[in-house]
Amino acid sequence: MKFLSLSQLSWLLFTCPTLVFGSPFTPDTPQKSHNIKRDNDTSPGSMVQLNADSDFHFEILRALSFAPYQGADIGEVLVAANQIVPGDFESFHDAFYDLANRVHDSAQAIDSARYPVSARNALFREAAYYRSADFFLHGNWTDPRIDSLWTQQLAAFDAAIKLLPTPGERVTLQGDGFEIPAVFYGSGLRGRRPTMLMCNGYDGAQEEMYHAVGEAVLQRGMNVITFEGPGQPTVRRQQGAGFIPEWEKVVTPVIDYALSRRDVDAHKIGLWGQSFAGYLAPRAAAFDHRLAAVVAFDGLYSFAQAVFDQFGPEVTALYESGDEETFNGIILSVLADPATPTTIRWAIEQGIWSFKSASPFEWATEVEKYTLDGIVQNITTPVFVAAAQEEKFFAGQAQILAEKLGDLATYHLFESIDGAGEHCSLGASVLSNQVVLDWFQDIIS
Ligand SMILES: *[C@@H]1O[C@H](CO)[C@@H](O)[C@H](O)[C@H]1NC(C)=O
Ligand SMILES: *[C@@H]1O[C@H](CO)[C@@H](O)[C@H](O)[C@H]1NC(C)=O
Ligand SMILES: *[C@@H]1O[C@H](CO)[C@@H](O)[C@H](O)[C@H]1NC(C)=O
Repeated sequence: MKFLSLSQLSWLLFTCPTLVFGSPFTPDTPQKSHNIKRDNDTSPGSMVQLNADSDFHFEILRALSFAPYQGADIGEVLVAANQIVPGDFESFHDAFYDLANRVHDSAQAIDSARYPVSARNALFREAAYYRSADFFLHGNWTDPRIDSLWTQQLAAFDAAIKLLPTPGERVTLQGDGFEIPAVFYGSGLRGRRPTMLMCNGYDGAQEEMYHAVGEAVLQRGMNVITFEGPGQPTVRRQQGAGFIPEWEKVVTPVIDYALSRRDVDAHKIGLWGQSFAGYLAPRAAAFDHRLAAVVAFDGLYSFAQAVFDQFGPEVTALYESGDEETFNGIILSVLADPATPTTIRWAIEQGIWSFKSASPFEWATEVEKYTLDGIVQNITTPVFVAAAQEEKFFAGQAQILAEKLGDLATYHLFESIDGAGEHCSLGASVLSNQVVLDWFQDIIS
């Protein structure tokens, strides 16, 4: 692969500041540009920064954010966070891996027959921290930790859900050419209950969905079904399958499964799509009309547009010219440059891995297919379109989705002053679950 000279790379970085995924980027100090946010920003709605690297801040906040629903304890995450060096992916792994191992040892020491709640609490945290340890490793596909950490997180999580008051049930559903791993969590109430189906996005696991939304749904007396499709963590690893835009191929078998159960109310099934699934869930709803409601959290009309917006006009033009070699060279040199902000480096590495693309150009070619153009008009279901005030990844997309949906959309802006302004209102899940699940309850009542 051809690499660009430094001057060409500088041209890229200085003429395409939008490549920096919306974060403050100072062209005169690129060597210190790991998305550093002013740590003395005390304006209303600003948040204490957990790392000088704004992407690490976001991922540490993500680990903390599951504390209300058994997915973290705050002090131990803050202790781990103190070992994380801006821009250093290995340090992020090491901090969470050490924590996960500590919590693993503590979980193993608990007699789960005698203290099932304590054992479950520890196992859930253990699983969550192994997932965090894995997060920044996908740039090297042969890194054995990608699989070993996943085996560890799955083992801990499965032990935890067996200890729920109504144990979670793992099922494998048949898709067209792939299998769909899913978990059913019963409400514990008698009769047919409302049920929320949910999937994660570009990088998150179905196990994470339990802590983000699932437990909040169970607390309201409804069932939960989490699932993963191609490109998502367990399917990508165990079946070698990258993302597909036709998400209805994943959702339809999940709805079939829900309808086959005697504890699911067929008229009260919702579908929650988290992050990138803010595109995937509405896409599926355009083809399968059996859902009572869809939640796009956050709303995403065109993933393609969002990615090309970040590339900026020059790189997009280069892609459109079909000059595969130059395009690949630019992207690979951006990845190799230590000054590249974490968000960009991670987003491209994660994209190429999760789409299972042979090159950046092949990834971009796949990304082009992810738009609701020509599809959105076939949605017949009410859609909650969430937006975050400081959206960094998919800026402007929620508004577009809401406009295209017209009367079917309930648009809601989550605000920074409430601590809910980050992508997916990360860190404010008690509030966001209140707003969205109250809406869902009104839709189905
Ligand atoms: C914040 O920090 C920067 C860099 O250290 C400094 O230049 C700026 O004056 C500070 N702003 C405030 C409001 O303290
Ligand atoms: C990728 O990981 C493998 C296994 O740990 C290692 O041998 C190899 O050197 C790594 N490649 C790069 C480019 O870091
Ligand atoms: C949308 O629905 C119409 C009418 O049922 C159908 O003809 C068309 O193929 C659908 N479009 C898509 C993209 O599924």
